[in-house]
Amino acid sequence: WWRIVCCAAAGYLLGSCNGAIVVSHTCMHDDIRKKGSGNAGLTNFLRNFGGWATLLVVLMDMGKVVLACLLGRWLLPGNPQLGMMIAGAMTELGHIFPVFYGFRGGKGILSSAALAIMMDWRIFVIGFSLFLIIVFATHYVSLGSILAATAYAVLFVIFFPGQPWIWSIAIAMAVLAIFMHRSNIARLLHGTETKTYLLKSKKK
Ligand code: G3P
Repeated sequence: WWRIVCCAAAGYLLGSCNGAIVVSHTCMHDDIRKKGSGNAGLTNFLRNFGGWATLLVVLMDMGKVVLACLLGRWLLPGNPQLGMMIAGAMTELGHIFPVFYGFRGGKGILSSAALAIMMDWRIFVIGFSLFLIIVFATHYVSLGSILAATAYAVLFVIFFPGQPWIWSIAIAMAVLAIFMHRSNIARLLHGTETKTYLLKSKKK
């Protein structure tokens, strides 16, 4: 049990190092949570700052999941996939509710994507393709995120059928990520959601 607790704690602490907050503080001398949608995530960072620093956010937020997964695999050698899943899911939790930043972080989409790469690259490829199609068609990143999160849960059930712990955690992650988009859902329904132009990083 102590190994599972260590997996979870390491994941949560790593996740709490929220890339958008750290990079906005250190490189922009600003707080991403005071800008745009107020979300400490890649999309809001891209819309408000953009540029090379966006790459740092990606590297940090995906890198911490990779690190957590490697730790999880090492801590639970008897069931390395479960170790990765627990550590990765807790990284998402830390990213959304970072202990170092007043429990106000992002929505966990990039963390979930990184975990998919570590667990089964096919889940990432399918989920990311769906995300890109929706974002390029509608320019609503939130809509792409919500639908990709839904696909994420379904894909984990398909690719890990005999491992209920794994797909249960994936479903819980997807539900949390969608719940974090509740204000986006309201804006989408009212037609007031912000559009994001990925290639031009232009705001409308
Ligand atoms: O992953 C976050 C994205 O789906 C929405 O971000 O800033 O538009 O609320 P934002």
